[in-house]
Amino acid sequence: MRATAARSTNHRSLLPFANSSVTPMPSSSAAPATHRLRLWWRRLGRRGATAGAAAFVAALLAAAFFFLALSPDASAPATSYPSYGHRLPTLVDLTLVDGAKDKGAVCLDGTPPGYHWLPGFGEGSDKWLLHLEGGSWCKNLTVCGQRKKTNLGSSDYMERRVEFVGILSDDELQNPDFYNWNKVKVRYCDGASFSGNVEDEFQDGTSVYFRGQRIWEAVMRELLSKGLSRAKEAFLTGCSAGGLSTYIHCDDFRALVPKASTVKCLADGGFFLDVEDISGRRYMRSFYNDVARLQDVRKNLIHCSSDMEPGQCFFPREVAKGISTPMFILNPAYDVWQVEHVLSPEGSDPERLWENCRLDITKCDAKQLETLQGFRRELLDAISDFKKKKDWGMFIDSCYIHCQSMNPLTWHSPSAPRINNKTIAEAVGDWFFNRREVKAIDCEYPCNPTCHNTVLSQPYKEA
Ligand SMILES: *[C@@H]1O[C@H](CO)[C@@H](O)[C@H](O)[C@H]1NC(C)=O
Ligand SMILES: *[C@@H]1O[C@H](CO)[C@@H](O)[C@H](O)[C@H]1NC(C)=O
Repeated sequence: MRATAARSTNHRSLLPFANSSVTPMPSSSAAPATHRLRLWWRRLGRRGATAGAAAFVAALLAAAFFFLALSPDASAPATSYPSYGHRLPTLVDLTLVDGAKDKGAVCLDGTPPGYHWLPGFGEGSDKWLLHLEGGSWCKNLTVCGQRKKTNLGSSDYMERRVEFVGILSDDELQNPDFYNWNKVKVRYCDGASFSGNVEDEFQDGTSVYFRGQRIWEAVMRELLSKGLSRAKEAFLTGCSAGGLSTYIHCDDFRALVPKASTVKCLADGGFFLDVEDISGRRYMRSFYNDVARLQDVRKNLIHCSSDMEPGQCFFPREVAKGISTPMFILNPAYDVWQVEHVLSPEGSDPERLWENCRLDITKCDAKQLETLQGFRRELLDAISDFKKKKDWGMFIDSCYIHCQSMNPLTWHSPSAPRINNKTIAEAVGDWFFNRREVKAIDCEYPCNPTCHNTVLSQPYKEA
């Protein structure tokens, strides 16, 4: 029985597990389940043989539960998450948007966009939580053309059913505040965070559609007709490139559900920084310039002034300035995707000095750690104005990870990362329901023993 093994297993992108040897000795929340069980067994065992035998059986059952809960099943598909609830994650079918093609609201390859809808129940029947999927961006015709043949560019390649976990879970143990809400995962297939809009489908002889804005509108129209228009409370969320989409569309969403008493938004791992990379260039800005020009996103970004490069307007720091709806910024200070693609991107490290540090934060040397601390300070500086907004919330943990709301282990579980002893789910719920103000900023790495720090076995690709 080696439940602890799960915490140091290398997983790519979908299962960012912790490496428990990373940080100073963990507190109780990070203590291996086996250890806790053994103590429990010893305590109970002293009460005599009968109690001991009963406890032994109970311990075995509990151990089996922890084993199932903590160990990723090697034979399971890559999308399968260990569950912290009392049952397996619910699978939700893909729905293709009705009549989307007629409106020109299509994926890169011209197929209709899609979403997965899990209806709410009980008190949650008239409450809606939407999640906008992420998956980086495509910046030119070559890469967008390749994307057409993947789930990020075509509904022909999308999984027909997906697991709803973390913030999308319908299990109260895993998702205490939103488990009974209507929940929707909107699939991402336009390559520019649901914000491009180019009429012409032919670009240099290849057919590629850049219609993210129309996809957003078509999906919203369909969800409004399915009950979103009568929502009492509504919550727009998204991770990574979907987190950026959330910043871009938060106020649009507010305007679409006027009857709702409460409308708020949460961007997870979506605060991409406009900073110099380790070679002193602004790789991310030039990347965003390419995306913004290719897909003509500028006309969607109202705060964008003419003296700014189009890519500059695509950064959350700029987008968020114009948002009037309450937002929650959920971001690790050392976002693993950003360290790889913003701080030390392709071409910035010809001698490959950063290779090991990128894959595993414990392999960073003192100088690299100083650079990472500088990156954290840039993030804190970029969000400082938003911290002053009373109705905004934030949770900036010092973990080496990416996308924490979609993972049951990091969203809400006995071993989830905590700040001030609150899990992300608790912090977000407290803020959403005005139970308290939440401006949770963690201390510097490696101070937080509850962190799940990703150890990548190969470079991280999706955003
Ligand atoms: C698109 O970008 C990729 C990756 O940077 C590059 O290899 C390719 O040559 C570019 N294609 C065009 C048409 O610019
Ligand atoms: C942290 O929270 C848990 C419940 O989530 C509680 O049992 C524990 O006592 C708290 N620890 C501290 C130090 O407050």
